[in-house]
Amino acid sequence: MQTKIEKIDSSSALAVKIIDSLCEKDFDFLSFREKLTFANISHLEKKKEWGTARLAVQEALNHLQIPYPGFYKDEHGKSHPMNGQGFVSLSHTRGYAAAIYHRELPVGIDIEVIREKIVKIGSKFLVEEELAFLNQQPAELTKAWSAKESIFKCHGKKGISLRDNILLEPFNSDASLITGKIHGTNFEDHHYQVQVEQTESLILTYTIW
Ligand SMILES: CC(C)(COP(=O)(O)OP(=O)(O)OC[C@H]1O[C@@H](n2cnc3c(N)ncnc32)[C@H](O)[C@@H]1OP(=O)(O)O)[C@@H](O)C(=O)NCCC(=O)NCCS
Repeated sequence: MQTKIEKIDSSSALAVKIIDSLCEKDFDFLSFREKLTFANISHLEKKKEWGTARLAVQEALNHLQIPYPGFYKDEHGKSHPMNGQGFVSLSHTRGYAAAIYHRELPVGIDIEVIREKIVKIGSKFLVEEELAFLNQQPAELTKAWSAKESIFKCHGKKGISLRDNILLEPFNSDASLITGKIHGTNFEDHHYQVQVEQTESLILTYTIW
């Protein structure tokens, strides 16, 4: 997957960026509070991930011709535009950062490197009925994990368990759409359609409410 920017429709866009070296002047667009947060990240790799995710948001916004408003985090860790307009979601993993913005609807995005070790933790985030239809290959399990993370982020509230509160419907290995729902919480049940993109080593998922 190349660094890419994609206009999903007239209301939403996403960007995926390869994490590279940082250049301080590239971050002049951040809000004052974001600059403080950025300056306080001492771990270089974390700093690159955090910064590149904001560059990805900026690129998605540019694509929609929306000025960067600055973002703050709520008590759950979810980012919101400072001007109260629109919705954003961010993800970063070793080597890549991704962001999605929508003018009117909550969104969730997740990017994951496909790793063998996910095979060992399937039962921590999947219930029996999900394990029954998944083939236990790293790519398929990573899709399931990532789809649940996107749903979690779109919903945005702490206290939602990937295993117990997010249920995926059966999907095929080559599926580009996964359906899932949040259930068994104080929040109203909601069904999500999660888009899936895959390369040899990466899974990208995103959902729009
Ligand atoms: C919060 C969580 C979704 C982050 O995911 P992650 O894979 O660690 O990291 P990602 O890079 O994909 O995403 C990080 C971004 O998620 C966003 N985020 C954090 N909490 C969020 C929330 N409650 N809602 C929406 N987005 C959130 C932040 O923007 C963060 O980026 P930032 O710190 O640069 O601002 C994850 O840690 C989590 O809590 N998952 C579900 C809970 C669960 O059941 N876990 C156990 C399963 S075994």
